[in-house]
Amino acid sequence: MPKKFWLGARALASASSAQTAKSRKRFPLATRLEATSIGRTTLYRWSIAPKGKPIPQSFALRADVSVAFRPADESALPMALRIQRPGEARVEIDFALPEGLSCFGLGERYGGLNLRSRVHTLLTTDDHRHLETTDSLYKSIPVLYLTGSRGAILLFLDSPAPQRWDLDSQLDGHAKIEVHSRRGFSLYVAGPAPIAELLRVYTELTGRTPLPPRWALGHQQSRWSYPTEASVRQIAGEFRARKIPCDTVVVDIDYMDDYRVFSISRERFPKFERMVSDLRADGFHVVPIVDPGVKKSLRDPVYVAGLKAKAFCLDAQGRPFIGKVWAGNSCLPDFLLARTRAFWGDQIKNLLDKGVSGIWNDMNEPALFGQQHPYDPSREALPPDSQQLFLQTAPEGKVGHFEVRGLYGMQMARSAWEAQHEHQPQQRPFTLTRSTYAGGQRYGAVWLGDNLSWFEHLRHSIPMLLNMGLSGFPFAGVDIGGFGGHADAELLIRWYQLGIFYPFFRNHCALGQVAQEPWAFGPSVEKQIRRLIQQRYRLTRYIEALFVEHSETGAPLMRPLAYHYPKDEAARNIDDQFLLGRDILVAPILQRGKRERVVYFPEGVFESFDRGRLVKGPCYERVHWTMGEVPAFVRHGAILPLLTQFEHMGQIDGATLTLRCYGAEAKGRLWLDDGISDPARGTPHGDYRLLLSGGRFSAEACQSGTYVVPRPVQVEALGKRFAFEMP
Ligand code: GLC
Repeated sequence: MPKKFWLGARALASASSAQTAKSRKRFPLATRLEATSIGRTTLYRWSIAPKGKPIPQSFALRADVSVAFRPADESALPMALRIQRPGEARVEIDFALPEGLSCFGLGERYGGLNLRSRVHTLLTTDDHRHLETTDSLYKSIPVLYLTGSRGAILLFLDSPAPQRWDLDSQLDGHAKIEVHSRRGFSLYVAGPAPIAELLRVYTELTGRTPLPPRWALGHQQSRWSYPTEASVRQIAGEFRARKIPCDTVVVDIDYMDDYRVFSISRERFPKFERMVSDLRADGFHVVPIVDPGVKKSLRDPVYVAGLKAKAFCLDAQGRPFIGKVWAGNSCLPDFLLARTRAFWGDQIKNLLDKGVSGIWNDMNEPALFGQQHPYDPSREALPPDSQQLFLQTAPEGKVGHFEVRGLYGMQMARSAWEAQHEHQPQQRPFTLTRSTYAGGQRYGAVWLGDNLSWFEHLRHSIPMLLNMGLSGFPFAGVDIGGFGGHADAELLIRWYQLGIFYPFFRNHCALGQVAQEPWAFGPSVEKQIRRLIQQRYRLTRYIEALFVEHSETGAPLMRPLAYHYPKDEAARNIDDQFLLGRDILVAPILQRGKRERVVYFPEGVFESFDRGRLVKGPCYERVHWTMGEVPAFVRHGAILPLLTQFEHMGQIDGATLTLRCYGAEAKGRLWLDDGISDPARGTPHGDYRLLLSGGRFSAEACQSGTYVVPRPVQVEALGKRFAFEMP
């Protein structure tokens, strides 16, 4: 870290102490600083609460986290951060942000990878206008990395209340975080250290995404809506007839009766269960949408059960709060309550009993019609608890909804996750959610909401997903082809060229837009997209090993170049290309009408994925990508486990595995398991370290390989191809 960085922060602290003392007097705060060591990194926890109030229980931290903190002195803090409380419901933390530091993280932000020079509001919002000026989106993930060539500083502000992070918007080297809350919170600080190390520490605290079921890594086809049994069967049938790989068909809100959550429209889906089981027999999984709003109707069994369980959020008079969503007047479950999660879990179980394989949670910011922006922290002071839309029950008692709004979607996803875990212990759960909070990565996948069929949104998906990964969420994707607006042939091919590298790989599209299934634009487009999806399936073993790596270290799948090349100044803020794991450099075309682009290659030798072209970095090179070509290079030094073609994950053991070595000296990892049973409960697996060294290929089983390798594998190394028996 540059010396200036440290000095700048300390100078700011002493200059401001008089002013801080004044505001402290008016609105006294109690603070406590503690430290702990995680690996080689010192982590500080600064607990900050209005005098007389305890720090509320954290939902971000893993329930089983056990780190012992020891008291520390404020002067030990790496950035000499300064706190003040300018209002009864507002705490501010400021610090210097010297020139040259980049800011990464903060979850789902529309804009570039480097978040500097803007104000970022964290307040979960269903805003489908994803424009340059869009500020808050669906998620609230208050973790930031201040990154320079000598390492990064981690800031994690654990509060689900509205926050505004001003990252030098005045261009004068100052940053400020405002927290709009009357509750206390903890600020965690660590570094300087490499980003990878800080992410390890952060996910040590807040948890990691468990291994997804393998089918969920395959291609998922969705649309609002496939509104009848016949249309769902037809879509699935098209995939198989056209030999386009696909594992999942998603059913949107029209599978329900009158949009009543957990109901099935027997008019449109008379034999829903039969449809699901027929599709399973053909290798498809069905994932239904589940929204939080429960229709207020005494004829609705879920509403009646919710009333009985006292499961709903309350208005100021203590009656269930009513808002408008798809089903009309509806109540919202209060997922902070264990009894609500149990009631919801029972409903999820009923749905699982119909044969579905996972749960898609939507509208859980929560989105209410006419209440898109219920509170504007840039203009308003936090209203009293009774005027925060509704009341929820936090562990310490009733609180206004805005105080805990960030937790709504996360706790809803938790409920879906835990229900699957409990009722289907033999399987890995799959939950997809739109809204979430720090730590929500423990409950599965996320997508980034309602994008548009614009090249601009194709382009933005890279920095958005990179920041999600650095914020602890590796299992993320955006709607391929774009949700709103009409896709066209060129956009869809270009989107698949990038989308095959999204960890969560789903084509989804809104009501009323032109169809965008892979065959929608005619045979030649279909052919290119089929080939691209096949390449994704070829990479399944590589992607699975990356999920294993994430569960061990917190490493994201999509990584900015800065993650592996921290000293490379040219690489620092690049956000139109990325690394998938350590070894694949992805650099797609992101503009209409373009056939080539400039790619930055960091230090090393890179070989184009479809083979042939070699580039030695560091350098910038013009690269031409035809439609349908895989827009990626593989790093020399890597061994990729590549599979032959197959159409759904149920067929994976029939595919031939080739361990392809890039360069004369190379390393890789091969992870083999059954793709479905929960590793926490002891999945049999084989974990192999692959090595090409001194002209010899070897594979060492690092954990007694209990998973039987189905067939001999092939090795490609040094221009030769040969069969190889795994140990
Ligand atoms: C929301 C979701 C979208 C879904 C639609 C209808 O807009 O973000 O994915 O298709 O609601 O359920």
